[in-house]
Amino acid sequence: MKINKKTPYGQYYEEYLYHNVYLNLSKKRSLGIANEMEAAKATAMLIKKSKIKFNSILDAGCQSGHYLYTLRKRFGSEFSYTGIDGFENHIKAAKKIWQRDQKAKFYKCWIQKINIKTRPHDISFSINVFTHLPEINKALKSLNKHTKKLCIIRTPIHEISYKIQQVYNSKWYKHTTVKPIDEFDAYGNPRSCNLFNVYSKEFFTHAIKKNFDKCKITFVKDTFFDAKNINKKEDKFLPTKVINGMQISDIMIVPNCFVLIEKL
Ligand SMILES: C[S@@+](CC[C@H](N)C(=O)[O-])C[C@H]1O[C@@H](n2cnc3c(N)ncnc32)[C@H](O)[C@@H]1O
Repeated sequence: MKINKKTPYGQYYEEYLYHNVYLNLSKKRSLGIANEMEAAKATAMLIKKSKIKFNSILDAGCQSGHYLYTLRKRFGSEFSYTGIDGFENHIKAAKKIWQRDQKAKFYKCWIQKINIKTRPHDISFSINVFTHLPEINKALKSLNKHTKKLCIIRTPIHEISYKIQQVYNSKWYKHTTVKPIDEFDAYGNPRSCNLFNVYSKEFFTHAIKKNFDKCKITFVKDTFFDAKNINKKEDKFLPTKVINGMQISDIMIVPNCFVLIEKL
């Protein structure tokens, strides 16, 4: 087991490689035996609302491809779908589940360097991924290269940016060997953590303009969810809850936004 080892782009492998609770739920969603995600339904709704004609979709940070289940249900089987994910356990599961879907392909690669040899996809999306990245410029540049018409990103956006580190220790997170009393190094940095960053609209807009070709940017606050579905008991780890209309992850308010980047 690779302990405290970082990915090439600075996340910890403990974040996903050994932690299967969310992957198992993703697999059930991909197979249609667990509820579709509210964010997946909202992504499909926004694609429909955009009225953009598409033949190809890229899902960056696809886990086992559970958004494909939602998309096939609403848009049929004509379009081709490419799922990429940096963690090999996710891609392995996705390939197995979707092996009969002739138009679905999965690749293990990091969002910061999507090195697949396909033409740019009509639509790309990356949902619930950017918040966990140490740095967003590379990922935006990479998405720009692989997007032809529309890119949708769902991530927390606020007036003020916050860099939030959820610090792993073995008492509450069994996939690390970091002891509770040893969580921080001599410089006060966590030995292992997961990021939950919130970006200011200003910073995020500037980063998109820097890395995308000419585009129209629209921020849409995620109010599309049904609280009852999010609060339903499912096999989750630190599940998101809705309290007073706000999405709460453990002790954090998560101001999720859909960022629509339409290429001009
Ligand atoms: C919180 S999950 C979200 C999964 C799915 N998009 C959803 O909304 O349910 C984040 C996903 O992004 C993947 N991921 C995290 N960092 C990544 C990176 N740097 N490059 C590619 N995939 C990444 C993880 O393996 C995981 O499948």
